[in-house]
Amino acid sequence: MCGIVGYIGKREAYPILIKGLKRLEYRGYDSAGIALLKDDIFLYKKKGKVSDLESAIADSPIQGNIGIGHTRWATHGEPNDENAHPHQSSNGKFTIIHNGIIENYARLRDKLIKKGYSFKSETDTEVLVNLIEYIYLKETMSAEMAVRLALTKVEGAYGLVVICNDEPDTLIAARKGSPLVIGLGQGEYFIASDATPIVEYTKNVIYLNDEDIAVIKTDELQLKTIKNTPIKPAIKELTLDIGEIDKQGYDHFMLKEIYEQPRAIADTFRGRIYRDCTDIHLGGLQQVWGDLEKARRIIIVACGTSWHAGLVGEYLFEEFARVPVEVEYGSEFRYRNPIIYKDDVVIAISQSGETADTLAAIRIAKENGAKVFGVCNVVGSSITRETDAGVYTHAGPEIGVASTKAFTAQVTVLTMIALKLANHKKTITTEKYQELIKALNEIPEKIEKALALNEQIKLISEKYKDHSNAIYLGRGFLFPVAMEGALKLKEISYIHAEGYPAAEMKHGPIALIDENMPVFIVATKDSSYDKIVSNIREVKARNGVAIAIITEGDTVIKDIADHIIEVPETPESLAPLLTVIPLQLISYHIALMRGCNVDQPRNLAKSVTVE
Ligand code: F6R
Repeated sequence: MCGIVGYIGKREAYPILIKGLKRLEYRGYDSAGIALLKDDIFLYKKKGKVSDLESAIADSPIQGNIGIGHTRWATHGEPNDENAHPHQSSNGKFTIIHNGIIENYARLRDKLIKKGYSFKSETDTEVLVNLIEYIYLKETMSAEMAVRLALTKVEGAYGLVVICNDEPDTLIAARKGSPLVIGLGQGEYFIASDATPIVEYTKNVIYLNDEDIAVIKTDELQLKTIKNTPIKPAIKELTLDIGEIDKQGYDHFMLKEIYEQPRAIADTFRGRIYRDCTDIHLGGLQQVWGDLEKARRIIIVACGTSWHAGLVGEYLFEEFARVPVEVEYGSEFRYRNPIIYKDDVVIAISQSGETADTLAAIRIAKENGAKVFGVCNVVGSSITRETDAGVYTHAGPEIGVASTKAFTAQVTVLTMIALKLANHKKTITTEKYQELIKALNEIPEKIEKALALNEQIKLISEKYKDHSNAIYLGRGFLFPVAMEGALKLKEISYIHAEGYPAAEMKHGPIALIDENMPVFIVATKDSSYDKIVSNIREVKARNGVAIAIITEGDTVIKDIADHIIEVPETPESLAPLLTVIPLQLISYHIALMRGCNVDQPRNLAKSVTVE
C-alpha cells in the first residue's frame, strides 16, 4: 500500500530511487514520483507505473545525492499526476512522501484553509506537508521539530520521509502503522517501506517502531520518539538474498512463485521436522506450548488468502488437537467488540506482517489478555514484533500481488503447529503423528508432480478464458481451497468467481448453473468423497461444466467430469497443499490469456497497510 524510498549519501540518488521504486511497485502502481535535492528540489511525478515516470523524465535533470521516491496505491483522490507523491507545501519549503492515511485530514485541511492555505491535490498527504510547514513558519524551530509537532496532531497511519529546503543535508523519516526500514551504508543511508530496495547496498538495517522518528544526515543518524526521547538504534542483519527478488527467467513473479512452492514448503519445514520424521520442533513456540495446550479456544485472525489458510488451520486444529477454533477476518474482529478470554490463543496469519486490520485485531486480543502468536513471512515486520511468539514461513519474498507460495507455506506452518499440539495433548496417536509428518515431508515432491501438469492445465484454461463467471466447490479441508481458487481467479483475471462448500450449492448457487458456468471442483479422495461425487453429478445434471481436481487414478470422477486434473494421493488433511496448485495455474493462464497484468492486477496492492 504505497512504496516509499529515500537515499542520502555520496552516490547519485536517482538510479537508487528508480530501482527501489520498481522493487516496491507491488505495493501500489497508480502513480510514481521522485524528488531530488541539488541546490533546489527537482520534483517529477506521473500517473501510471514507475516505467512511465522514467520515460517522462528521460531528458530532465536528475542529479542529486539526496532524494525520495514514491509509488502510490490511491486512497484519497483518483490516480492522476496531481495526486501523485511527492507533495510539496505551499511555500515549497517541505517535500514529503507518505504511505498510510491521515484520518483527520479533512478537519486539518479546513483549519489550514482558514489560515490561508490552498491545495492542489485531493490527498491527505498534501494536508500533512502543509501542516508541517505551517508549524515550522509560525515559530522558529528546526524542521525535525516541526515534523514531530505536526505528527502529534494527526490521527491515522504514516510511514513518511520529509525533505526541508532549509536543511538540505537532512532526511526526516517517521513511522506509525506503515512500515519503514533504514539501511546503514558507509556514509550513506537508504530508507524504504521494506528491505527489497536496500538489500543490494547493505545488510545492516534498523526497523522503525511506531512513533519513531529518524533524523538522517550522510554521517549521522539520530533516532527518537515523536515526543523527543532519544532511542538507541537496534541494528539487525538482513537475511534476504538479492537473487530472491528477481524473476529468475520466469515471465512473471506469480509463475516463479507458483513454481517455487516445493522449495518454499521444504524451507518452511526444514530444521523443524526431524530427519527421521518422528517429531516436530518449533523453536518460535518453545516457550508457549503451555499456553497452547491450555487454550480454551484458538482464534485465527487474517485477511484474504491468509484467511483461507486460517480456514485450513481450523480444520487441522479441530481434527487433530480437538480444540475449538474460530477464524476471523481482522477487519470484522476489530470492530465488533469480540468476546476474548484470557485463556484464548490468537494466531495472526499474514504474509506481509503489515496488514492493518490483522494488526489491529492483534492489539485488541492483547488488550484483552489473550496470548497472540504470528505466522508471518516477512522477517522483522510489524506483526512479528507485536506478537508474543510465532513461526515464520520461509517462503522467501512474495512479489506477485496474488499470494501463492505464502498460502502453502502458511498451511505448512499451521499443519506443524496443529500436529505438534495434538501430540502434546495426546489427541492423536504417535503412529498417526509420525505418519502425517512423513506425508508432509513428501509434499514438495508431490507438488513437483502437480506442477508438471502445467501444459494440460493451460489447455483447460484456454477453454474457459472467455467466461464471465465461475464457481468453485470443495468440502472439508478442501472447502478453503475452493475459496482460494475463486479468489485467485477473480483478482487477477477479473472473472467473477465464488467459492462454496459443495453442499451449500443446493441452497442457492445451483440456480446459477447452466452450460455457460464452469464449476471447478476440488474432489480428491477423502472422507467426503462420495458426497462430492454426488455434487459433481448435480452440476452435470444441470448442464454445468465440471472441471475436477482429483486423486491420481480416480476413474469414477473421470467418467463424470468434463475435465480432470490428477494430483498425487496424500492424506486429506494435507490435500490443500496439493490441490491448490492447479487452481493457481488456471488463474495464472486465464489472466495471461485475457491480457491482464498478472503480477500487478488493477486496484490491488500487495501490502494492505490501510484499513
Ligand atoms: C490475495 C492476497 C490478499 C492477501 C491479504 C492479506 O492473493 O494476496 O488477499 O492475502 O491482503 O495479506 P497478508 O497475508 O500480507 O496479511
